[in-house]
Amino acid sequence: MKNIVITGATNGIGLSVVRQLINKNFQIYIIGKNKEKGNKIINELNKTNLNYINCDLSELSEVKHLISELKKLKKIDILINNAGAIFSKRVLNSEKIEKTFALNHLSYFYLTLGLIDNLELSENPMIINVASQAHKRFKLDLNDIENKKFYSGWKSYCRSKLLNILFTYEFSKRYNIRCNCIHPGFVNTNFGNNNISLFRFVINILKNIIAVSPEKGSESIIHLIMNDIKVSGKYFVKSKEQISSKLSYDEDLAKQVWELSYKYIQKHL
Ligand SMILES: NC(=O)c1ccc[n+]([C@@H]2O[C@H](COP(=O)([O-])OP(=O)(O)OC[C@H]3O[C@@H](n4cnc5c(N)ncnc54)[C@H](OP(=O)(O)O)[C@@H]3O)[C@@H](O)[C@H]2O)c1
Repeated sequence: MKNIVITGATNGIGLSVVRQLINKNFQIYIIGKNKEKGNKIINELNKTNLNYINCDLSELSEVKHLISELKKLKKIDILINNAGAIFSKRVLNSEKIEKTFALNHLSYFYLTLGLIDNLELSENPMIINVASQAHKRFKLDLNDIENKKFYSGWKSYCRSKLLNILFTYEFSKRYNIRCNCIHPGFVNTNFGNNNISLFRFVINILKNIIAVSPEKGSESIIHLIMNDIKVSGKYFVKSKEQISSKLSYDEDLAKQVWELSYKYIQKHL
């Protein structure tokens, strides 16, 4: 049986992936930050192949603990880095790291590197990073990776999604483990609802008019898993390989992002 770890599966796209895979031959580990929600899902789905582990992924110390818990599984076949959020106001985690950067990028980076040995124990491991088309909207400023200057939630979010893609491409050059990223489309989920702002109001109107369902939004993830897609270092939209932004293919930038990200996690290793 394959072990799947999926972050942010107490809602939206992640939960939809779980619902679609639950009756297949997988042992699924949902990672979420809300114990009550997690336990409710476990009780509702009532399957022996479903497990919940609590972790606030925006906190490196909690990710460290999560890694040590997941290491007990020995082999991990599929890791889906999906948890993400947008923060309309600039917030810091307990280590004073800006939260969009910490959650949307550093958690993907740290969890993946922390689980390399376990992924390598799988015959055919696979990593899927949930990115977004929004990565195309802004350039990166490596001198302002924590979005201190003229904070905008949207800009920070878009930059974090570019980081997801740079990480995916750089990872697949460094490791012999399949690693791809996806854009799910504009999906009607809980995304943005952690904010009390005009952004939340506007996004909810748009979600009801033009967004697709979480099932539709999870189609690329399901495609990669169920068809055991062999490529690595690619960007998928609607289950098809697509070209990401020109900047996302900047190899020097990807290397610098890697080195910078590594400095953040180094003291936790
Ligand atoms: N929705 C879209 O249109 C869209 C478009 C492009 C990309 N995406 C990407 O898709 C991914 C999933 O988003 P979604 O649309 O499914 O949103 P969602 O419904 O808000 O789900 C996000 C999931 O992440 C979890 N999460 C948030 N902060 C966390 C933290 N600090 N620690 C652990 N888990 C945390 C949430 O937990 P709770 O249930 O406790 O809140 C939830 O399970 C994100 O990476 C997002 O950037 C979404």
